[in-house]
Amino acid sequence: MNSSVSSHSIGHQEIERLVTLFYRKVREDRQLGPLFHEVLLSEEAWSQHNDRMVSFWRSVMCGEGWYKGNPKKVHMELEPFDLMLFEHWLVLFEESTRELFSQEISALFMNKSRAIAAVLKATLKRVR
Ligand code: HEM
Repeated sequence: MNSSVSSHSIGHQEIERLVTLFYRKVREDRQLGPLFHEVLLSEEAWSQHNDRMVSFWRSVMCGEGWYKGNPKKVHMELEPFDLMLFEHWLVLFEESTRELFSQEISALFMNKSRAIAAVLKATLKRVR
């Protein structure tokens, strides 16, 4: 792969900008917002969520970061929601990557996020 489009172009700062922009959209989103507001009850909780997501994406994209969580378990413990919302999550995420990055970098994020979304969705489908 050409190094200009490899994950080497993605660092802590890029991921922090992406996570901040994406969750700003999520918070204001009519469909996704309420699902997050149900569990993230304070500004501090949102800020911790942001930090966790930065670390999650650093580990996914760069093999760095302290993230050691269990996303399957965390999503299984949410109030059941319409699994079609994964499509909407991906649309907002893609919109965010496109606002910040080149098409190549955006595609790197989208390949990962689509794969993870598929795993999460299949897990939730199984337990319902
Ligand atoms: C409709 C789809 C989704 C909904 C409604 C959703 C909702 C949430 C909520 C409410 C939390 C906070 C949970 C808490 O702090 O108790 C969370 C955490 C998280 N989400 Fe999602 N999510 C969705 C899709 C995704 C996707 C596609 C990914 C990855 C590509 C993802 C990755 C994560 C991770 C890594 C966490 C942190 C887990 C932890 O605490 O260790 N989510 N999600």
